[in-house]
Amino acid sequence: MIIAVDGPTASGKGTIAKALADHFGLPHLDTGLLYRAVGRQVELTGGDPDREADALAACAFPDSLLADPELRSEATGGLASRVSVHPAVRRALYERQRGFALQPGGAVLDGRDIGTVIAPEAEVKLFVTASVEARAQRRFLEMESQGRQVALADIAADLAARDERDRNRKDAPLRAAGDAALLDTSDLNRDAAIAAAIALADEGT
Ligand code: C5P
Repeated sequence: MIIAVDGPTASGKGTIAKALADHFGLPHLDTGLLYRAVGRQVELTGGDPDREADALAACAFPDSLLADPELRSEATGGLASRVSVHPAVRRALYERQRGFALQPGGAVLDGRDIGTVIAPEAEVKLFVTASVEARAQRRFLEMESQGRQVALADIAADLAARDERDRNRKDAPLRAAGDAALLDTSDLNRDAAIAAAIALADEGT
């Protein structure tokens, strides 16, 4: 069984994907982490994230980079969003994601284009959304708990810019697959969002 979980930043898709993987006993891949590693590698090698050749070269990042805590930062998220517009980068990361999806027994993948490009045959497809306000508030609380001071308005502006770029890129833009179940987590807490996702996945299997 393949479970595809797509949606914008801070929608709750990562938490939901992990919970579904636990629930169904499946391995999980956070595909955003791959794009983040490419973004970080461009930075470490002094390349230009907007230059396709530099971003493509960065796809050969060492696996050890996936454990770099800096990958989770907002700055790296922004770089990931910039390198991910290049078709050559998306092609370079395709096999790794496709291979993960096709492993015997199945898998859960979360990202932006899992249900549309990476695993269009997935038995379960969820498109997780939430309002910009709800997502910015979550990010704000998360950063506050880490002792980081960032203005809520700046977080909201950054999220909106990233959404805009992800939705409007030519290659594999962020959009729900026609057969995806929509899950709006704006008014749901963590446990309620997970319960709703499990219910939707059970319907799809
Ligand atoms: O999900 P996360 O915020 O970690 O993803 C970082 C960036 O990587 C996204 O803003 C998006 O531009 C890109 N991405 C993508 N396709 C995926 C996963 C992430 O383009 N499947």
